[in-house]
Amino acid sequence: MSLLKKSMIFTDIHRAIHHLLNREVVALPTETVYGLAGLGYDGQAVEHIYALKNRPQHNPLIMHYACLEDTTTDVVWTPWAQHLAAACWPGPLTLVLSLARTSRIPLAATGGLNSAAIRVPSHPMMQTILRALPGPLAAPSANLSGQLSPTTAAHVAKDLDVPILDGGPCIYGLESTIVDGRTWPINILRPGALSVEYISTLLLGFQEPPMVSDCALGKRDFITIPSSPGIKVLCPGQLLAHYAPKKPLRLNATHIEEGEGLLAFGSPLLGADVCVQLSAEGNVSQAAANLFAALHQLDQSPCEAIAVMPIPQTGIGCAINDRLSRACAAFGPGNMAV
Ligand code: TXA
Ligand code: MG
Repeated sequence: MSLLKKSMIFTDIHRAIHHLLNREVVALPTETVYGLAGLGYDGQAVEHIYALKNRPQHNPLIMHYACLEDTTTDVVWTPWAQHLAAACWPGPLTLVLSLARTSRIPLAATGGLNSAAIRVPSHPMMQTILRALPGPLAAPSANLSGQLSPTTAAHVAKDLDVPILDGGPCIYGLESTIVDGRTWPINILRPGALSVEYISTLLLGFQEPPMVSDCALGKRDFITIPSSPGIKVLCPGQLLAHYAPKKPLRLNATHIEEGEGLLAFGSPLLGADVCVQLSAEGNVSQAAANLFAALHQLDQSPCEAIAVMPIPQTGIGCAINDRLSRACAAFGPGNMAV
């Protein structure tokens, strides 16, 4: 890492607020992953985020608010979405809702859709910053488009030359769960830090049970996207290839091949020169918190490829497998990371 990049990392919240009010983009810690943040109502700051990440313009951003009340002029709430937000916020739930007529979210941030993805993060530094600002923050994960999400300030500094507020390692280490809150039953657009089972439990009080995602049934291809020709992709970021380390991954490995490092879960396979453990006790929550940091570590190690031991498809294990199979897809034919 260069000295210049090191000097961009700081712990003073007021400095971060100062940069943001100057319409600059700053990397900030959240409880899930680090975000690349700019003033959410400022089209210029939003465009700067896209440019820094090299992110396709059609892939919309998540807006981060201090509290639910602050969202009401931007989006239209449904009763079940409100119920979920009351139970999960502040925390790692993102809701997709229709834009309100009074919305101030710039077109650039929504990718031209008539909906917005919103969340109220719980990280204390992010909360303090949001409460000091006049509006929400637009913040995608603070990585170059298609690459691994950062869970430490040092991960951000590897990819991006921006001011970085260091809030320590992110406690969840995996992105928020994205729920389409417009429809009943709800659709889970991205498995994440809150498990599908947990969200289903929260909705049991409603007149119909929520649709149980096939993800919970162990299938991979569960995301509801109208993908027929002529129909807009609802959630562009859900394209298959994503979250990719720089080395090829081999999933559900039961042995080590020549040149492979090991991403272990539970008792490690023998024979790898480099081994990074997700959870020695086989705990999926611990594995989720370590996932991106472990992939960053293996990317920097001398191994040529990464063998991944099987991860159970239960609870947050579902989100881990989602990220791993997307990372894998980035190396398949015609599947460049987006
Ligand atoms: O945990 C998180 O969610 C982190 C932290 C920084 O908050 N953020 C994050 O943002 O993961 P990003 O941009 O890396 O992923 C946001 C995802 C993208 O896949 C995007 O396509 C989707 O949210 N999204 C945004 N607006 C949407 C909308 N209106 N409808 C459907 N999907 C949307
Ligand atoms: Mg991202």
